Amino acid sequence: MCAGNLFFKREFLKPEGRGPAARTAELILDTYNIMGCDALNVGAYDLSLGIDYLLTLRKTAHFPLLSANLTDRNGTLLFDPYLIRTIDGVRVGIFGLLDTQLKLDKIPGGDALRVSEPEAVAAEITARLKQEGAEFIVLLTNMEGRPLRGLTQSHLPIDLIVGSDKRNQISLPMVTQDTFVTHLDRGGRSVGHLEVEPLPKATGTTGRGESIRGRLFRHQFVQLRLDIPDDPRVEARVVAFETHEATLQKEQLAGNGGDDDCGSTFVGIDRCATCHADRYRTWQTTDHAHALATLTARNRQYDEECLACHVLAYECDKGSLKIANVEQFANVQCESCHGPGDLHVASGGEEPTRPLQSVEEICLRCHTPERSDEMDFAAVAKRICARSSP
Ligand code: HEC
Ligand code: HEC
Ligand code: HEC
Ligand code: HEC
Repeated sequence: MCAGNLFFKREFLKPEGRGPAARTAELILDTYNIMGCDALNVGAYDLSLGIDYLLTLRKTAHFPLLSANLTDRNGTLLFDPYLIRTIDGVRVGIFGLLDTQLKLDKIPGGDALRVSEPEAVAAEITARLKQEGAEFIVLLTNMEGRPLRGLTQSHLPIDLIVGSDKRNQISLPMVTQDTFVTHLDRGGRSVGHLEVEPLPKATGTTGRGESIRGRLFRHQFVQLRLDIPDDPRVEARVVAFETHEATLQKEQLAGNGGDDDCGSTFVGIDRCATCHADRYRTWQTTDHAHALATLTARNRQYDEECLACHVLAYECDKGSLKIANVEQFANVQCESCHGPGDLHVASGGEEPTRPLQSVEEICLRCHTPERSDEMDFAAVAKRICARSSP
């Protein structure tokens, strides 16, 4: 089951990002079809290309998309509100709710959409599910924070809430009133695994877990580590997709013209090396020296989203990176940390390099918590930018 926000990375897409975003969404759908999925709730990040696009995408989905509170202007539902499925002999009712925070005016065709108040809808749907014999009720939603807490305190017979808020890191599941609430991890880096079973009559044999309404919930996040082999069918699709994208990205970079000043304040590491051979030798031993090769190995060397941190000159040009720059300014170089060196070099070292911010700030531009483990940046900097003996 998926709580939503599956297809796109952000709520609003710039026009130039729409082509790649649509192709990515289609790949995701394809892989979910292969993996199998019982239901997907429509989240705000599934509407980024508009409702018409999502309705078209739904046609190729082998699983239902749910939303009990997304309607058109006349209040007609656009997706099934809920479904009932018998899992291990238990009738499980699953319904989906969209957060009301959605900024409809920014979504293509959004003015034709309405989102009804989740709490009222939840009351109505859970009553219907009970009537239809559901013994266990699951809510999939992209609601978060106060509205989500409000719902958990409303005494509705919801046994499990699977949330998908946008910023979440992994956070531990919580138990409120009579409901077990868990979140999904962002970026598909792990899957949630939940076992629910009736509480054994005898005490003392339950082991770890949370007991709610006579059931035992055992939850864990399974990290999708790189050493877990990919399903060959999924892998084949991903590789084909990446090869195709790389070709398109390369063409686009080749077509970027105009802005010839790009990179003119950066002189490149070869120049720095002529006077700072000692630090250059140290640099060569660091991972920064092969950051572009890392992308090439994965066919992402023309992907601007990756180049931003894996090459030097990306940041000077406000978006119109060119192929020539990628090769000329490959890798994380001296100037990635010390700033443009044009004046410094022209003055034979007299002019200082562009003033450094704090070491932390420099590193955090690329070593964001999402991308990198914590480290003592200042201490590591001394090691990776040290003078080496000749
Ligand atoms: C322009 C972006 C950028 C900046 C700025 C940057 N790094 Fe990195 N760093 C990277 C990338 C990209 C990699 C991965 C390179 C690879 O393996 O392909 C990396 C890898 C590393 C590694 C090796 C991986 C590891 O965890 O052992 C260390 C150590 C490191 N950086 C330290 C620093 C420190 C300290 C700073 C600040 C002084 C810094 N970096 C600034 C982009 C950057
Ligand atoms: C915000 C900056 C940033 C962006 C954007 C970025 N990376 Fe990185 N990348 C890093 C840093 C920093 C590291 C080093 C992490 C560490 O080990 O501490 C790294 C490491 C890596 C590594 C691991 C290197 C190794 O072999 O151990 C791979 C692979 C990688 N990046 C691929 C990508 C791809 C593909 C993209 C585009 C989808 C991308 N990166 C975008 C900053 C970035
Ligand atoms: C990953 C970021 C990073 C890279 C890449 C890097 N440096 Fe540094 N460098 C630093 C930091 C941070 C310091 C300050 C370290 C300290 O606290 O001693 C520093 C210190 C220095 C110093 C001494 C500064 C002083 O005030 O004494 C010189 C010279 C220098 N770097 C030159 C280079 C050259 C040349 C290269 C490329 C071959 C390079 N650096 C690559 C981050 C970097
Ligand atoms: C023509 C020779 C020359 C070139 C080329 C050169 N430097 Fe320097 N650099 C010097 C001299 C001389 C000093 C002052 C003595 C010292 O600290 O080694 C210096 C000092 C520095 C310092 C410490 C003082 C400061 O400005 O913060 C940094 C950092 C630095 N250089 C970085 C770089 C980088 C990055 C490059 C390439 C863009 C570069 N240098 C290219 C000669 C050069």
